[in-house]
Amino acid sequence: MKKLEVIGAKKLKGTINISGSKNSSLPILAATLLSNKKIEIQNLPTVKDIETMILLLSSMGSKINLSKKKKSVNIHNFKKIKTYASYNLVKTMRAGILVLGPLLARFKKAKVSLPGGCAIGARPVDIHLKALSKLGVKYKIADGYIHATAPKGLIGNKIKFSKISVGATENLVIAASFAKGKTILKNCAIEPEVSDLVNFLRKMGCNIKWTGRRTITIFGVKKLKEVKYNIMFDRIEAGTYMIAAALTGGDLKIVNVKPKIIKTEIDILKKIGADIRTKKNKIRIIGKNKIKNLKIFTSPYPGFSTDLQAQLMVLLCKASGKSQITEKIFENRFMHASELNRMGAKIKIFGNKAIIEGNVIFKPAELMATDLRASVSLILAALTAKGKSIINRIYHLDRGYENIERKLRNVGAKIRRISQK
Ligand code: UD1
Repeated sequence: MKKLEVIGAKKLKGTINISGSKNSSLPILAATLLSNKKIEIQNLPTVKDIETMILLLSSMGSKINLSKKKKSVNIHNFKKIKTYASYNLVKTMRAGILVLGPLLARFKKAKVSLPGGCAIGARPVDIHLKALSKLGVKYKIADGYIHATAPKGLIGNKIKFSKISVGATENLVIAASFAKGKTILKNCAIEPEVSDLVNFLRKMGCNIKWTGRRTITIFGVKKLKEVKYNIMFDRIEAGTYMIAAALTGGDLKIVNVKPKIIKTEIDILKKIGADIRTKKNKIRIIGKNKIKNLKIFTSPYPGFSTDLQAQLMVLLCKASGKSQITEKIFENRFMHASELNRMGAKIKIFGNKAIIEGNVIFKPAELMATDLRASVSLILAALTAKGKSIINRIYHLDRGYENIERKLRNVGAKIRRISQK
C-alpha cells in the first residue's frame, strides 16, 4: 500500500493549475446513460472516482474511449445497456447512485447497489428514492440493492425536496429530463456542479430552466443530440490550494478558475488575513504571518463548503485565537481532528461543533487518512510541520485530487509517494 512522505516546513510559491471538477464530472458521466448519441466530455480530472464511474458505465455496456492525455472521454451508448450497477463498483463511491435516475428514465428499470463513499456519516438515499417515486418509480430494497421499475415510464410531477441534497437534485434533474411532461423541482441544491450538469443536459437537447432561486422546471424530451462538453474547474481543489498558500505564508497563483464561483471561500480567507487578488481566470493568494480566528459553519452553496471544512480547520489551528466550526451537512465529519491533535493541535469536538485553539505549531507524525478531504487536511498540516510526516491510507486522497504531489512539488513542497514495507 502506498503512503505519502511530507517534509515541512516550506512556503509554497508558484502557480497551480486547477483540474476539472470531480463532482461535476460524476453526474455528467452518469447522465450520458440517457443518450444513444455520441458524447465527448473534456477536462475530466484523472482521479480514482472518475475511473470508477467509467468502469461502472463500461460494466453496463457503454462504449467508452478514454484519452487520459487529452483528459477527455468519448461515449457512445449504441449497444444494449445493462440496467445493473454492481456493489463492487458502487461501494467505493457514493455517486454511483446517480445512475439510478437515467436508467429509470430511459429503460424503465434499474438494479443499483446502495452506495458507499466516505465514512463521514450515514449518507442515506431516501431523498433520491422518495422523489423518484413521485415520478412513478416503484422500488424495493433487498440484498443491499435498490430494485426499481417505472412500468409506465417516468411521469412529470411537482417535487419539493425535504432537505437540500446535491445528489438527489442531480438524479432528479437527469431523470425528469426524459420524463413525460413537466416536472418542477423545489428546494434544489444550487451548487455550481448542479448548474454544470444542467448546462450539459441543455447542450444535449434537454429542456431545463431555473425558474426560482432553488427551483428547476424541466419539460421532458424524447430525443437528444450529439454533444461536446467542457467540465468546470474543481472549486474544492482550488479552495484547498488557496488554504495551502494562506497556511504556509506562501504566494500562489491559482489558475484556470472562476473566482466568482468561490467568492465565499475568497471572502473567508480575506477575513482571516490573507491577501487575495482576483482576475478573470486566476487568483493570487499571499499568506500573512498573522491569521485571524473565526466562527463559521458549513452549509449548502453559496455557504461555506463542507468539502473545505477539514482544510480550513488546519488553518484555524494557526490563528491567533480560538475558533469554532459547526458542521451542518454531515454528522461525522471531524475524524481529521484526532489526527491533527496527534500533531499538536488542540481541537475539541462537541457534537457537530469543533472548538479550535490557535497558535499551534504542528509537529511531524505518522498519520492515517480517514476520508477524502481529511486526507488532504493532514497533508496541509504536514506541510507546516518541521520534519518528516508520513500519511497512510492515501487511497482516499486519490479518489479526488489529481496529481497532488506533483502540483505541490512544483510550488516548492517536499512530498513524495512511497511504498509501504
Ligand atoms: C455531494 C458531494 C460531496 C459534498 C456534498 C455536500 C458529489 C459527488 N459529492 O455529495 O462532495 O460533500 O454534496 O455538499 O457531488 N441526505 C439524506 N438523504 C438523501 C441524500 C442526502 O439524508 O437521500 C443527507 C446527507 O446525508 C447529508 C446531506 O443530506 O447530510 C447532504 O447530502 P448531499 O447534498 O446529498 O451530498 P452528496 O450529493 O452525497
